[in-house]
Order: sequence, then structure tokens, then C-alpha cells
Amino acid sequence: MQHSEAINMLTAPRQFSNNKQVWIDLGCGTGTFTLALAHHLSPGSKIVAVDKKKKVLKEIPAKFKHVQIERKVTNFKNNSFQFKNMDGILLANSLHYVRKKEAFITKLKEALKPNGVLIIVEYDTNIFNPWVPFPISFKRLVKTFKKAGFTSIEKIGEMPSRYNRSNLYSAIIQ
Ligand SMILES: C[S@@+](CC[C@H](N)C(=O)[O-])C[C@H]1O[C@@H](n2cnc3c(N)ncnc32)[C@H](O)[C@@H]1O
Repeated sequence: MQHSEAINMLTAPRQFSNNKQVWIDLGCGTGTFTLALAHHLSPGSKIVAVDKKKKVLKEIPAKFKHVQIERKVTNFKNNSFQFKNMDGILLANSLHYVRKKEAFITKLKEALKPNGVLIIVEYDTNIFNPWVPFPISFKRLVKTFKKAGFTSIEKIGEMPSRYNRSNLYSAIIQ
């Protein structure tokens, strides 16, 4: 995916304030969406880019557009996941690795500030395959996050996927 396409997928009218923010990007891979997020955040903000693979993290710069990027090797499904007071959490193409989504969403909620936001990028399908073992369509996302107590789930972007017949969507959740 092009950098500009990733930026567009994260473009929403309201979520990025002019204040410095701290976000985590869970399952950041080589950082396509980490850098797109950095593009949207105010100078002085920080992103903690998390992946279980040390190798992919090496491709992410320590700074992008005046936003600091801390790279962290962590398995986000472990109980040792201890992020607190986050302004935002990004999960781009990584929520589909989580089988037990309800328990995981509770963990995400605890990591957010009271008015913090989540951004999810996923395939709009419920049909699994070896690369997307536990998919979550937009419709199912709305249902799952409402059940977990979030009140606003809004689609902010959509584009055709190169690897899949379903579209890729992005959503902001609060
Ligand atoms: C499909 S890639 C997506 C990368 C990037 N977010 C993007 O959209 O371009 C999924 C990434 O999540 C990471 N990942 C999967 N399960 C993970 C876990 N439990 N903890 C940390 N990283 C994980 C993988 O190592 C991989 O780099």
C-alpha cells in the first residue's frame, strides 16, 4: 500500500487534536500505518510501534514528521501487555489474529484514556483464510464494540484489497 493511501485510510474529521498525543500501534509490521498515523499527529506526539517480530521493527524510523516512534518487541496477546493512559490505539490488519475479541477489547479499553480512541483497519469479511484467521467485517465490528460499551463506531475509509476479494475498511471507535 502507498503511504498516501494509508494516510487517506486514517483521515477522519475529528480524531486528531492539536495537542501532543501518545498512541500505540499494535501489530505495526514494517510501519505502513505507523507512518500514516505520524503524518496525522501533532509535532511532539509519540507512537509506540509494537510487533512480536523484531526484524520488521527495524524498518521503522525512530522519528517521522516530528513524531517520535518507539519500537517495542511485544506479543500484544500476552498478559504482560501493560499500556495505560493512551490517547489512541491503532490496529491495522492485526485484530484478525485475535480469536477471543471480547476479552481483548476489554484490555484495549483499560489502556485508553477516558476519551481515547481506537482506529481499526480490517478486511470487510467474516470468511477466514490462513492469513486472516479470525476476520471481523464492519458489521460485526459495530456489534462487537457496542457490546463492549463503545458508543461511536464510524467507518472512515474504504479501499479495494489487493490480496482479498473483500474491501479493506478503516473505522474509528470511541
Ligand atoms: C498483516 S501484518 C500488518 C502490518 C501493518 N499493521 C500493516 O497493516 O501494514 C500483521 C502484523 O501483526 C504482527 N502480529 C500478529 N500477531 C501479533 C501479536 N500477538 N503480537 C504482536 N504482533 C503481532 C505480525 O508480526 C505482523 O507484523
